[in-house]
Amino acid sequence: AYKVDHEYDYLFKIVLIGDSGVGKSNILSRFTKNEFCLESKSTIGVEFATRTLQVEGKTVKAQIWDTAGQERYRAITSAYYRDHADSNIVIMMIGNKSDLNHLRSVSTEDAQALAESEVLSFMETSALEAYNIEKAFQTVLLDIY
Ligand code: GTP
Ligand code: MG
Repeated sequence: AYKVDHEYDYLFKIVLIGDSGVGKSNILSRFTKNEFCLESKSTIGVEFATRTLQVEGKTVKAQIWDTAGQERYRAITSAYYRDHADSNIVIMMIGNKSDLNHLRSVSTEDAQALAESEVLSFMETSALEAYNIEKAFQTVLLDIY
């Protein structure tokens, strides 16, 4: 059988950035493989995964770049969003590890207020509980779309 090259209507690129240990790699693995790892290794440089899904009846391929949060990789990782970013990018702020509510240091209200003042969308997620992960990506992909 002949296999067509482009099995999607849109290709969208997403870059995950944030401090080391906040859960970027697990957000990615939850979304692309439905996997979670309690003892995941810190990312070196930049990793990459894709998932194709339906958004508003269109086939969207999400190409997701997972950057290292550790300071020493900042020169590499910043290149992925400083140089390659379009002017009409969509930015979403995620508060992950919502399952650790008892250890919370920022209230949902304060995070929401920051997001509003910076004109970002905001969502709390848990990669561990698979809470809002699907919804967060759906929302950001719909915003890009
Ligand atoms: P860097 O690659 O160093 O930038 O870190 P990262 O942001 O990719 O963090 P990573 O996904 O490796 O997760 C760090 C630790 O937090 C790991 O022990 C994960 O198991 C844990 N973790 C990630 N997401 C969650 C979550 O939603 N809830 C809880 N309780 N732990 C989480
Ligand atoms: Mg990582």
